[in-house]
Amino acid sequence: MQKKASPRTALITGASSGVGVEFARQLLAGGQADAFWLIARRRERLDSLAAELEAAGASSCRILVLDLTRDEDLQSLSDRLAEERPNLNWLVNSAGAGRIGHVAALGPAANRAQCRLNVEALVAVTGLCLPHLGPGSHIVQLASIAAFLPQPGFATYAATKAFVLSYSRALASELRERRISVTAVCPGPMETEFFRNAGESSKTTGRIKSLGIEKVDHVVRTAIRRARAGRQVSISSLVGQAIRLISRVLPHGFVLGVMRRLGFGD
Ligand SMILES: NC(=O)c1ccc[n+]([C@@H]2O[C@H](COP(=O)([O-])OP(=O)(O)OC[C@H]3O[C@@H](n4cnc5c(N)ncnc54)[C@H](OP(=O)(O)O)[C@@H]3O)[C@@H](O)[C@H]2O)c1
Repeated sequence: MQKKASPRTALITGASSGVGVEFARQLLAGGQADAFWLIARRRERLDSLAAELEAAGASSCRILVLDLTRDEDLQSLSDRLAEERPNLNWLVNSAGAGRIGHVAALGPAANRAQCRLNVEALVAVTGLCLPHLGPGSHIVQLASIAAFLPQPGFATYAATKAFVLSYSRALASELRERRISVTAVCPGPMETEFFRNAGESSKTTGRIKSLGIEKVDHVVRTAIRRARAGRQVSISSLVGQAIRLISRVLPHGFVLGVMRRLGFGD
């Protein structure tokens, strides 16, 4: 009897909205994955994505309703992985959130919450999945163009994304021998639920969005292509490329001074 091929499996966090949903759709449509582990807190959103993926040909969708900032939920992900030992082809860490406002105004809890989700949870999920990723697999970490420069008015968020970029690049180097690619995705502003949760009405939001809105499907298509090519960073806009270049050639103190004069971070 012929051995059944094991499914190509993608584990996606933040799979109830925005970028995470688009990754699931494109990985299935592009034949990159046919089984999915979908993670977020809102079960009904995950149920409806699973139904859509299965109708489009996915072989199976596991739904994990988890709050990734809770240790007990990370433990249940660890237990489930140990129990089922999936062969993961893709890990997409898309769960993330930002809060616009000065650090002092946001207060310690809101600042810490961003670090718990964007940094601690991403590191924890990556660590839990590593034993299940084989040669030729891909890790995709959602960073941001905010990773390239400090950002007054969005300071904690930008710092968490700078962490994601640095961590992902070093991890890519560590995993080279195992032939696992790691790609930090650095989009500009996109129309997802992100800004609604970040404090949509502030002046800072308008200034960030004035950089130009990126289309989620383009960001994800570029990221999948760059991950498959083994690239460490995926930037999908000219503005993103320009900001990265500025962050490399100009002293950050000078750039922060110009940003202050332009009213960024008021
Ligand atoms: N949109 C932008 O302008 C933009 C720009 C650059 C980078 N990014 C980054 O791209 C990633 C995706 O953002 P998006 O635009 O798709 O935002 P989004 O539409 O708000 O999606 C965020 C996802 O994270 C999940 N999430 C939030 N808190 C969670 C928690 N405690 N535990 C588990 N899951 C949680 C949400 O699901 P539940 O609420 O159901 O838990 C949702 O699925 C983020 O890392 C973000 O920082 C976004």
